[in-house]
This record gives sequence, C-alpha cells and structure tokens, in this order.
Amino acid sequence: MTTTPAGPMLEISGLSVYYGNIAAVKGLNLTVNEGEIITLIGSNGAGKSTTLRTVSGLIRPRSGAVTFLGQRIDSLPAHDVVKRGLAQSPEGRRIFPRMTVAENLDLGAFLRNDKAGIAQDQERMLELFPRLRERISQKAGTLSGGEQQMLAVARALMARPRLLLLDEPSMGLAPVLVDVIFATIRRIREQGTTVLLVEQNARAALSVADRAYVLESGTIKLSGNARELRNDPEIAKAYLGG
Ligand SMILES: Nc1ncnc2c1ncn2[C@@H]1O[C@H](COP(=O)(O)OP(=O)(O)O)[C@@H](O)[C@H]1O
Ligand SMILES: [Mg+2]
Repeated sequence: MTTTPAGPMLEISGLSVYYGNIAAVKGLNLTVNEGEIITLIGSNGAGKSTTLRTVSGLIRPRSGAVTFLGQRIDSLPAHDVVKRGLAQSPEGRRIFPRMTVAENLDLGAFLRNDKAGIAQDQERMLELFPRLRERISQKAGTLSGGEQQMLAVARALMARPRLLLLDEPSMGLAPVLVDVIFATIRRIREQGTTVLLVEQNARAALSVADRAYVLESGTIKLSGNARELRNDPEIAKAYLGG
C-alpha cells in the first residue's frame, strides 16, 4: 500500500461530467504529483466541485479517466476510493451537527481498525486545530463556521489519506480564519499529505499552492507555477480582482 508507482499520484485525463444534457466539466486534464499542493481555482459554477466529487467517486464521468497511484478509480464506489488513500473535505462542511467533535473525528476513520493509529491521529488533529480540543465534547452543530470547517478538514484527515481533496475550505470565513486554514494546509503537506485544493479565493490559494489550474465553464483555461500566475498582471486583472 505504501509503494508509489512512477508517474503522477493523481491523473485526470479528458474528463467530462454531465448533469442530464448539460456538461459541467469538459475534457479536463490535471495532474497532482506526490508532495505537491495543487489548486484548482475558478468562479462559482466553473465545475470545481463537480471535478472533486467525480474524483471521490460520488459522481460518474461521461468520459475520461481518473487514475490514482497508477490505477483507474473512476468506476469505484466512494468508500473504495477512500480505502485507496484519497479523502475529501466537502464544500459546505457537512459535519454531523448532533454528534460531538470527537464522534465526527471518529467517523473520518470509519474504514480503519488500527486503534492505536486512530488515537495518534486524533491527537495530531487536536494539535493542528487547538480549537477543536477545547470543544471535543461539544455538539458539532454548536461550533462556529470556522470551527466547523476545521472539523471537516480534520475529519477527512482521520482517514489518513495520501491525497486530501479540499473543496473551498475558506468559504464564508473571516480573513483571520482563512489564514489559519491556509497555514494548516501547509502543515498538512509538511506532515506528508499531498493536497488538491479547490478555491474561489484565488489569491489565497495561489499563495499556498505549488501549481495552479484555472477552470472556466468546465474547461482549464490555463495552468502553471502558482507564484508566476500570482505575479502575472493579466491574471491578476482577470482572476484576482486587479
Ligand atoms: N446536482 C446538479 N444538478 C444539475 N446541475 C448541477 C448540479 N451540481 C452542479 N450543477 C451545475 O454544474 C455546473 C458546475 O457546478 P459546480 O461543479 O458546483 O461548480 P463550482 O464548484 O465551481 O461552483 C454549474 O453550472 C452548476 O449549476
Ligand atoms: Mg463548488
């Protein structure tokens, strides 16, 4: 399970995804190499969540392929995708409001049975997100928006994924919490997890990512080194609000 075949960790090629007759993603190509933070940025409705949900096995593509660690995963059920080492923190948090913070974290580890490892990872999450430690016995529905977002990220990490998919972790957060979340994404990578980050907040995403892809109406418009994209005046004008 820990061997990595040569080539990218995740390869999406020629991916098209439809809702009925409407194409939400059209021939998308994207790769993530082990150890990278890759961001997929684009405005509302561009097809970002559709792409992530397809990679996670929650939606079936009409055509194209998703390859993870050298094997096709585009026809696997979502729990098999998690088993192979890929976990998603969904858009809009989707934590379980009536369960406690601790119970939500446990759910993230539902496919694991290494008790000691799970306890170790829970401790690691509480170190990454000290706010969650203070609220460990509290019902998740009573957390603030930022705390719920942290819990959603921590829950996904409890699966101990090799690749973490994050769908707009900064959405709805005050700027100071956006900084906390992005600093944590850096730490997550330092601790050995590869990250595919979807964001509307292009400026913040480009500041944390190694490489970036810009999605528009289901198609990749451009891609490249995140720092270069951030410093490109044309890009700043088009995507970063000047
Ligand atoms: N369940 C759905 N049924 C029909 N159309 C959908 C559904 N989910 C998303 N779409 C459409 O697909 C397109 C891409 O949506 P989405 O992937 O959610 O974009 P993003 O995450 O970039 O905002 C949008 O036009 C959206 O309206
Ligand atoms: Mg979305």
